[in-house]
Amino acid sequence: MDRNQAEQRIVKLRELLEEYGYHYYVLDQPLVSDAEYDQLLQELISLEGEFPELMSEDSPSVRVGGIPLPHFVKVEHEVPMLSLGNAFNDDDLRDFDRRIRQGIEGEPSYSCELKIDGLAISLRYENGRFVRGATRGDGTTGEDITQNLKTIGSIPLRLKEAVDIEVRGEAFMPKRSFEALNQAKEQAGEEKFANPRNAAAGSLRQLDPKIAAKRNLDIFLYGIGLLKGKTLDSHHEGLAYLRTLGFKVNEESQYCENIDEVIEYIHSWLEKRTALPYEIDGIVIKLDSLSQQKALGFTAKSPRWAIAYKFPAEEVVTKLIGIELTVGRTGAITPTALLEPVIVAGTTVKRASLHNEDLIREKDIKIGDSVVIKKAGDIIPEVVNVLPKLRTGIEQEFNMPTHCPECESELVRLEGEVALRCINPKCPAQIREGLIHFVSRNAMNIDGLGEKVIAQLFSHQLIEDVADIYKLEREELLKLERMGEKSVDNLLEAIEATKENSLERLLFGLGIRFVGAKAAKTLAAHFETMEALQKASFEELTDVHEIGDKMADSIVSYFDSEEVSELINELRELGVNLTYKGAKPTNAQEAIDSAFAGKTIVLTGKLEKLSRNEAAEQIEALGGKVTGSVSKNTDIVIAGVDAGSKLAKAKKLEITVWDEDQLIEELGKRG
Ligand code: IVH
Repeated sequence: MDRNQAEQRIVKLRELLEEYGYHYYVLDQPLVSDAEYDQLLQELISLEGEFPELMSEDSPSVRVGGIPLPHFVKVEHEVPMLSLGNAFNDDDLRDFDRRIRQGIEGEPSYSCELKIDGLAISLRYENGRFVRGATRGDGTTGEDITQNLKTIGSIPLRLKEAVDIEVRGEAFMPKRSFEALNQAKEQAGEEKFANPRNAAAGSLRQLDPKIAAKRNLDIFLYGIGLLKGKTLDSHHEGLAYLRTLGFKVNEESQYCENIDEVIEYIHSWLEKRTALPYEIDGIVIKLDSLSQQKALGFTAKSPRWAIAYKFPAEEVVTKLIGIELTVGRTGAITPTALLEPVIVAGTTVKRASLHNEDLIREKDIKIGDSVVIKKAGDIIPEVVNVLPKLRTGIEQEFNMPTHCPECESELVRLEGEVALRCINPKCPAQIREGLIHFVSRNAMNIDGLGEKVIAQLFSHQLIEDVADIYKLEREELLKLERMGEKSVDNLLEAIEATKENSLERLLFGLGIRFVGAKAAKTLAAHFETMEALQKASFEELTDVHEIGDKMADSIVSYFDSEEVSELINELRELGVNLTYKGAKPTNAQEAIDSAFAGKTIVLTGKLEKLSRNEAAEQIEALGGKVTGSVSKNTDIVIAGVDAGSKLAKAKKLEITVWDEDQLIEELGKRG
């Protein structure tokens, strides 16, 4: 085939593929079989390979994903991408309607849409061609993810009119694709995504577009940011226009004459929503008339003309197959319901805390019962109630044990407490949990020393109290399973570094009853040294603002013990800092604005310009949370020199990775 023939064929193939793709992805009405489509696509790809000068940025072949990017580029949104206020019930909706009426002339009518649970995306078209796609980011600045978005079949690369337009919508992962992806992850022994939203966000945060291309993402467009050379009167007209341009617009939207119709529409979705092939977390209600919208305007964060109705937490029925007991750091025995696995709000639930015996009695929970489960705040699973009508007679009453499941000493119920407690100070479960607490994030924050490693060290009797952590030896550690030279060295280095921690971390880590992280800070700032605190009387303690009688009592009796003084002397001799170093005060506004706000960050590898603890403190002062291990909940991994397994894991989980310079640059922006 000569160049001319190739060009003609390429043009034809692109036209066909575009048309077939539109019918398949946008209209959901395929014109040809998948095999036929793939064959034409392969033909196009090979012709473009043969004649690279004929390649075009909006050829359907770009949908398979091009070459990986080194990093994402920031983009400023010309029109900010705001969020919405929430409504939780009919009263909230009627209040919303009332506020609207006060601010407009004439009667309001509304456009109701499903609130798709994915991530907000902006798409820019120039002359009808897709030129840039971005995430919402903080609303003002997002990230350019054009290459990834091009892999979404329902995003047109070319519109049906040559317009300049910026549109907004929600990218998401359909439930079935999410389940298939997690199944594949499970088989590969990889960590699963918590829910379809995280899976969609994780996929679009990939630097390699070929990964996004495999993730079967989709998008519904729901709004127009900027439009040149055309005026519209209403929101529903805007949606119809988006459809004529070739965008995928959700078909379930409805125009409502008044708030009663809105409420009716919402009620109709309470039941139906679980049957949808994608997740929704509510309904968005928008004032339909654009001139009325304009009259109402915006608050700092959201438009006054729209609101999001949030569905009540999803409730699901399953069987309670057993009750497991765990012994906490303070000896409290906590029962946990073991459940037949069930999907609630997008994730599989197998356990739910039952808190204490009283709750089991109150809810009349028996083993074998059918129970209603929901997620509090859509995160923590809980048993709402049992369904006694479904009992068959084989359900079994649950009785709390009389003896500790771990050390077998008799359990007691202290006056005024609901929990049963093991009061044996030598109970191995309590000691182990105390050690886990000591190394945890808000306490000494020892990197690489998580629950599992502590349990391992404890069962090998390498640590019996917290001072032993600072006595660990390289040779002993190397003998343990899964402990290579590199991880042992990293661990010892991390332990060593925490000797420099400011006093409040140690104080909190010791696990003195009633002394939380905040009180530990108050105490450390007030008394400045461990010695002064050890000597403090009840009165001196209660003189400190925020320290009450109960806590003061507990502190005095804690330091009264001979064993405790010995432990503290030991820590001193081992070189653990026992003074308050004063952390940088948090500037509330900076923390809200910063790139770290609400984010979970992991530091790994050797930092050269900052110490680990300096970096962690500064990130925390800006509202970030620094944790030791990389999981699906991690937002950013800061990789220093020679970063190893954590970096690898971050890449596997598709988490954003920064180097030290990027970190310093972000910290620098905030003084
Ligand atoms: S309209 C000014 N419509 O919900 C904000 N949002 O807090 C206009 N969302 O960030 C948003 N489905 O990510 C709108 N049909 C829909 C939506 C929708 C999902 C998301 C969107 C936005 C968040 C609102």
